[in-house]
Amino acid sequence: METVSTVAELRQHVRAWKKAGARVGVVPTMGALHEGHLSLVQAARAQADRVIATVFVNPIQFDNADDLETYPRTLAEDGRLLAAAGVDLLYVPTVAQMYPPGFATRISVSGVSEGLCGGARPGHFDGVATVVCKLFMQTLAECAFFGEKDFQQVQVVRRMVADLDLPIEIISCPTLREADGLALSSRNRRLNAAQRQVAVALPRALAACADEIATGADVATALERVVQQVRAAGFGPVDYVELRHADSLQPLATCPPGTPARVLAAAWLGDVRLIDGMAVPTVAG
Ligand code: PAF
Repeated sequence: METVSTVAELRQHVRAWKKAGARVGVVPTMGALHEGHLSLVQAARAQADRVIATVFVNPIQFDNADDLETYPRTLAEDGRLLAAAGVDLLYVPTVAQMYPPGFATRISVSGVSEGLCGGARPGHFDGVATVVCKLFMQTLAECAFFGEKDFQQVQVVRRMVADLDLPIEIISCPTLREADGLALSSRNRRLNAAQRQVAVALPRALAACADEIATGADVATALERVVQQVRAAGFGPVDYVELRHADSLQPLATCPPGTPARVLAAAWLGDVRLIDGMAVPTVAG
């Protein structure tokens, strides 16, 4: 696996691959890789002939300077994992390369980016959409792979691709979890041992909530119970717990049988913000 850091080098490889008729896939990441990222690489290898992984901690999607500073950076290990997973090319641009002096463009996707993480982190999804669009244009990939753990992010990217007619297919892949249910996340490595034990309360409460809603429980009561359960377990502030339509991300006050719906949440454990979400199981109506 070769590592490149400029668009010119990247395009040289991509041009040669495309000339040979290869379908190119990209897995955009911010590094600090875990099995969840590697499952995206696996999906990319199955659906594309050549796979590019990108590692770029994108400053414009962080609404908080401390979060940007403490975001785990493990490039050497990331490179080893990606090479072993069968990535063909690793693209690691610098901040100066992505945002040179004078850079003045933002992509802002309304609707699906509002509320949830978009409400709690102002400007976050403009930063995500802008960098993802740049990465698509730079890599000229035909397909791109994203994890469903960042459910709202996937919907924002899908909306942007549809609205801007970007010639790329978006493929989302299921959330990977630890044995106890905690969703894999780069942020988990910032949890201490005690926080790690508490963290499992979030997926447990969400799974119970999704089941309750599927069997007709009152939605507001079921969502409120998640807040109470995670707070009782030791979580700090809860940014949101909401039921949303799985495609439009419209808030749902009720969940008639057959509605594709997801319970989505974000909550703090110390200074680590965890997000998770679960599909409401479909019960025949
Ligand atoms: O999900 C992430 O790691 C990031 O938001 C992404 C898609 C790589 C954009 O910086």
